[in-house]
Amino acid sequence: MLTSPISSVLLPFWLDVSNHANAIRLHCRPVYLTCTAARSRSSSFTWSSGGGTFELTGAALNKALQYAPTNGMPELTKWLSALQKKMHAPSGNESLSHDILITPGSQDGLCKIFEMILNPGDSIVLEEPSYPGTLAGLRPFDLKYISVETDGGGMRVDSLERAMSKWSPADALNPASDIPKLIYLQPSSSNPTGVAIAPERRLPILQIAKKYDMLVIEDDPYYYLNFAKEFPRSFLSLDNDGRVLRLDSFSKVLSSGLRLGFVTGPKPLVDRVALHLQVSSMHCSSLSQTLAFQLLNQWGVDGFLAHARGVADFYRSQCEHMLAAANKHLKGLADWNVPTGGMFLWLKARGIADTFGLISEKALAKQVVLVPGNAFYADDAAPSPFLRASFSSVSPAQMDEPAPAFVARRDSAVTTRGGAGAKLNAFDSTASGRLCLSLCCCWSVGDSRSAASTSPTYADFVRLCCSYFYAWMSRLVVGLAVVRSRC
Ligand SMILES: Cc1ncc(COP(=O)(O)O)c(C=O)c1O
Repeated sequence: MLTSPISSVLLPFWLDVSNHANAIRLHCRPVYLTCTAARSRSSSFTWSSGGGTFELTGAALNKALQYAPTNGMPELTKWLSALQKKMHAPSGNESLSHDILITPGSQDGLCKIFEMILNPGDSIVLEEPSYPGTLAGLRPFDLKYISVETDGGGMRVDSLERAMSKWSPADALNPASDIPKLIYLQPSSSNPTGVAIAPERRLPILQIAKKYDMLVIEDDPYYYLNFAKEFPRSFLSLDNDGRVLRLDSFSKVLSSGLRLGFVTGPKPLVDRVALHLQVSSMHCSSLSQTLAFQLLNQWGVDGFLAHARGVADFYRSQCEHMLAAANKHLKGLADWNVPTGGMFLWLKARGIADTFGLISEKALAKQVVLVPGNAFYADDAAPSPFLRASFSSVSPAQMDEPAPAFVARRDSAVTTRGGAGAKLNAFDSTASGRLCLSLCCCWSVGDSRSAASTSPTYADFVRLCCSYFYAWMSRLVVGLAVVRSRC
């Protein structure tokens, strides 16, 4: 008996709990080559490196099993303050006081910040494409999205200026105005584009935020996965009038399962987010904080940076393999920017209006999972020729095509591209060539969104999850409104 029908659709394994009083069995299903995830490679979570093992006993264990202060365990927030000072020491206004709040992942910090600032119907400035977790967190507010274009250098300053030109700076003083209250952006190797906001664009963006009195939400989980050795100046480090709230995460460099992120920003704003945390989860897991602190304390800031450099080097090598495979197999079929860090390659399919149906039906049928571009836009019903491939978990061999025969198949894919009658059966899947093969399948068969399908697909599953997620988020927002109105 399957524990749930969902597991049979998506998961590579499922639990069988039937007829076994004392045993749980793990069944394996055919392995999917997943290029979707923002999951880090587990082998990069090297807990034993650089300091051997550590024990959690006695008073330290007792503390780890107890409640903790809302902002975080003092020893960890102190360690993080030293890190932030080294990496982002705010320039200019020395009187600005910054504070840190540890959150259960930066996703939680983001949602709390949005709930703190936004009201239903407000406007918000977003770079497009954007992180789907943010879009999902914003959806219950029914916002007006002011979309800013991006290119190989991230958010475009001219596009931001154009988007804001319909307001005057004086509108920021008028509570009835619909001028946006905040800009959400990802400065480093964005999810999904893989590229950073160019260093020379950062100050002008901050100045526009200042001109229209907007807060800047700097969501930066990929900061430490920067391929170049030098880190560009963060928005937090450029901020001299207290308008940047920065979110960091340990998910990509220590462990996503720990659920540890931290918000850094002006104390009055961080205090408000802390109040929210106080009445929701109270504080981030003490056990997770203790584990992280033990490790970070053993490493020291320099040891942590050395570890992060090793992780970034691993992803740089993965990226090089992915680019080599793309150059070999996808030239003329798709366009892409070279990632500056992170774990994603953002591809634009040539001659394909929408990758949604192609990925959810054709690629999935070939046991490859990619994310269609529409997931990264506020209007996710609009067709998108883009798709996101993740190079975190696939091996270089899986990225490449081993058989010379593939070239012939690829050529036939090129010639049949866009033709509704393309014969997918002509492509047979080999274990190590599935990524490129499926990409070529996607490229080759044109728009299949209209293709009727009677059996549930991955897309159905994603839609189901999203609808549950939105429903719960809406309930949460309504619940918070009720709590607020009663207080
Ligand atoms: C841009 C972005 N922000 C936030 C998050 C959430 O990170 P965390 O695991 O710290 O909640 C992710 C996760 O993939 C992400 O890509």
